[in-house]
Amino acid sequence: MAFDIEMIKAVYAKYPERIAAARKTVGKPLTLAEKILYAHLWGGDATQAFERGKSYVDFAPDRVAMQDATAQMALLQFMQAGKEKVAVPSTAHCDHLILAQKGAEEDLRSSLTASGEVFNFLESVSNKYGIGFWKPGAGIIHQVVLENYAFPGGMMIGTDSHTVNAGGLGMVAIGVGGADAVDVMAGMPWELKFPKLIGVKLTGKMNGWTSAKDVILKVAGILTVKGGTGCIVEYFGEGAKSLSATGKGTICNMGAEIGATTSTFGYDESMERYLRSTDRADVADLANEVKEHLTGDDEVYANPEQYFDQVIEIDLSTLEPHINGPFTPDRATPVSQIRAEAEKNGWPTKVEWGLIGSCTNSSYEDLSRASSIAQQAVDKQLKTKADFGINPGSEQVRFTAERDGMLKIFEDLDATIFTNACGPCIGQWARTGADKQEKNTIVHSFNRNFSKRADGNPNTHAFVTSPEMVAAIAISGDLGFNPLTDTLTNANGEEVKLDPPKGEELPAKGFAVEDNGYQAPAEDGSGIEVKVNPDSKRLQLLTPFEPWDGKNITGAKLLIKAFGKCTTDHISMAGPWLRFRGHLDNISDNCLIGAVNAFNEETNAVKSQLTGEYGPVPATQRAYKAAGIPTIVVGDHNYGEGSSREHAAMEPRHLGVKAVLVKSFARIHETNLKKQGMLALTFDNEADYDKVQEDDTINFLDLDQFAPDKPLTLEFVHADGSKDVIVANHSYNDAQIKWFKAGSALNLIKEEQKK
Ligand code: F3S
Repeated sequence: MAFDIEMIKAVYAKYPERIAAARKTVGKPLTLAEKILYAHLWGGDATQAFERGKSYVDFAPDRVAMQDATAQMALLQFMQAGKEKVAVPSTAHCDHLILAQKGAEEDLRSSLTASGEVFNFLESVSNKYGIGFWKPGAGIIHQVVLENYAFPGGMMIGTDSHTVNAGGLGMVAIGVGGADAVDVMAGMPWELKFPKLIGVKLTGKMNGWTSAKDVILKVAGILTVKGGTGCIVEYFGEGAKSLSATGKGTICNMGAEIGATTSTFGYDESMERYLRSTDRADVADLANEVKEHLTGDDEVYANPEQYFDQVIEIDLSTLEPHINGPFTPDRATPVSQIRAEAEKNGWPTKVEWGLIGSCTNSSYEDLSRASSIAQQAVDKQLKTKADFGINPGSEQVRFTAERDGMLKIFEDLDATIFTNACGPCIGQWARTGADKQEKNTIVHSFNRNFSKRADGNPNTHAFVTSPEMVAAIAISGDLGFNPLTDTLTNANGEEVKLDPPKGEELPAKGFAVEDNGYQAPAEDGSGIEVKVNPDSKRLQLLTPFEPWDGKNITGAKLLIKAFGKCTTDHISMAGPWLRFRGHLDNISDNCLIGAVNAFNEETNAVKSQLTGEYGPVPATQRAYKAAGIPTIVVGDHNYGEGSSREHAAMEPRHLGVKAVLVKSFARIHETNLKKQGMLALTFDNEADYDKVQEDDTINFLDLDQFAPDKPLTLEFVHADGSKDVIVANHSYNDAQIKWFKAGSALNLIKEEQKK
């Protein structure tokens, strides 16, 4: 079996002693998140209590997972680290580079042709360095991890922001950039600022149309896309126990959409059921032996206000289904109000597509609840108004769902069953007519709905909801349809009502699969040669970034002052650009092309101070680089929110940008910038953002004294000769300043390797 039982045994063996040491050191009852963090300290038992939101702490995660789009860069970096094998169990999953167009079989075949070079590269690197390899079509990384690797009380990192999904099985699972994964795979400590803790108490029990998805859609509405930044969200209470493990996974998954470091749930019977049904009875038995350590202390949950930094309470009994969007996952609307909201805001109510799948909602339970609605459409002679697309989460889910007749129900509604992969969720959707850029509405069970994400059309209004609501709304073809109260007219002209969904948490006959798509690595990979064609358009071996010259940066120009939301999708777009994720120079041609220029409110049109002309961001930056002129990027709040892709940091670094100065950062992106040897800075006074002008020349006044807790001073010289001196804060500690000085964290690993 693919999971590593010996590793889990070793983790649990340390638990009693480490928790006791942590309780003594901290001097109070512990939350689950604290238990997992303190049990995974790099140095062993806790000798000091860490300050939440302040202390940088070294951890020893148990495992690493990577998906194909980010694994390329992670593994290109790992190849430079000079190690023979990965130090902790690690896996690579081929799920992002697979198109959704005609249906699973044909799409998989054409994706294997289109991205064969990349898949072969990942396969051979995995084979060489001892990394488990999940082939294209095996499933979506987070569903596969939940089914095979996640375990209660474990700690993992993954090169994808939705790694947090594994919180559904009681892990602390955190999305990181590839350079962080390289640290852990190279056997080094992994550093994280000790998170703050948000407690979410779930009371009551869900009923009718409400699902686990609605918990997180509601939480997103409360906390917004920034509200969880720097925090672990811990769910507890009777309501939490009533949710399935995959439902918990859905909730944790979308913790990424509120910026949370991760989310988790205490070990309970639903997790035990899931472990046993996914062929891991031995893990369940081990977990049962230490179960008092795999959940927060009773006193914490009895008086949460005393132990969490923030507490939210949600009553599942009265929670309404939600529909979040468009364009941002935190715009939460209860279904009873969606019609009025749509009318007020001019959102198109005709729904063109209903998409079910993604790492958020592609479990057996999800498909079973959605198919119970689809079955009613057949039984009640309703004609489906919108198109349907389904991406099962894994081959195990697909095979079992097919065996149990669920896929047939969708096919009877003319649904397209896409590959077990990300597909439309990551913009790998060849949607017919999307190029016409018409205003339209789609509903999906995914996690993100940023502009252009699914089909590249900025006018597609994408709404996030549960799979069963997607099914109901797609059948009605009407965004305003409320299945709790409204009726539909069937083929005979009769008014019919959809009954609430029914689903099975786990398959009654057990999961089944013929070929799960897993390939174990070679025992001894030393003889395996990894080849990268120097003429490849898709893959490029990395050249180390230049170390810092020890001087103040002077004469820098402003590349762009980004206005408003600037996610990693805006900095390094996905969709068609995914194919260049292993080729730094080629993908750099998408650098910041989605960011809105604050001076003209256009995308990909910035003024070059070399020519005075407006041009695309990448070409403008390449010209600055050729002229030997450093540049900086200025941004707004939560800059770099969204995915873990380090390309968003590596591209500007590769093109010669020296610093990114913003009102605030999303955590993973800030770390990625630091790891790649960039300066990640925040305005001391946010209002200084307004002082930055288009023709500015920027001089760092005290970078040569760069030190922890010491702000930097930048002089902005405006075109008329006037100046503004702006104070920029940073969160670099000593170790991170060394990354900057070395040119990147990887350069430092290599230096230390040589010693
Ligand atoms: Fe895949 Fe991430 Fe979506 S793992 S399914 S792209 S959120």
